[in-house]
Parts: sequence; C-alpha cells; structure tokens
Amino acid sequence: MVADELKGKGLGSRLMLSIMDFAREKGLTEIEGLVLANNPNMLKLMKGLGFAIKSFPEDPDFKLVTHHLQMV
Ligand SMILES: CC(C)(COP(=O)(O)OP(=O)(O)OC[C@H]1O[C@@H](n2cnc3c(N)ncnc32)[C@H](O)[C@@H]1OP(=O)(O)O)[C@@H](O)C(=O)NCCC(=O)NCCS
Repeated sequence: MVADELKGKGLGSRLMLSIMDFAREKGLTEIEGLVLANNPNMLKLMKGLGFAIKSFPEDPDFKLVTHHLQMV
C-alpha cells in the first residue's frame, strides 16, 4: 500500500516491477493476482504494466490479472 502523500509518483508501478523481477529470477514464467473490480487505480496500474485483465467467474467482485514473465 502506497502512502497517500506518495501516490501518483510511480512508486506502485516500480514496486510491482520489482515483484515481477523477483518472480522471474525465481524461474516463474507467469504472475497472476486478484484485484477488486472496484479498484480502478490498481487496475489502471496493472493495465499500464501490460497485465491482461479478465473476469473472475468464481467471485465477480474481483478481476483476474495475469502477465507472462519473459526471460531477459
Ligand atoms: C493502487 C496503488 C498501489 C497505486 O500506487 P501509485 O504509486 O499511486 O501508482 P503509480 O503512481 O505507479 O500509478 C500507476 C498508474 O496508475 C494510475 N493511478 C494510480 N493511482 C491513481 C489515482 N488515484 N487516480 C488516477 N490514476 C491513478 C496512474 O495515473 C498511473 O498511470 P499513468 O502511468 O498512465 O499515469 C495505490 O493507490 C494504493 O496503495 N492503493 C491502496 C491499496 C491497494 O489498492 N492495493 C492494491 C490491492 S490489489
């Protein structure tokens, strides 16, 4: 969670990119997560990082977000 006074400065995106780097280093090939459907800020962040955003039929309150982790 990013503190209110630091929001909108790219910190959330950088944190997610670090998580993706860590997962890639561990050999994972895909990352996925659930985001509340009524959290437009997080969904915008994920979309901006190239995550696919899909419905989550098991619980429509959530969206399923996924991203392949290509080796660099
Ligand atoms: C969601 C959250 C992590 C975003 O962190 P952040 O540091 O503000 O995000 P960034 O500055 O990296 O913004 C990434 C993108 O999302 C957009 N965005 C983020 N917060 C926004 C807001 N309040 N209003 C409009 N756009 C917003 C930014 O405009 C940016 O898009 P851009 O690159 O096109 O400008 C932060 O608001 C937060 O901690 N929220 C509460 C906890 C939460 O929702 N966690 C996620 C649970 S799944």
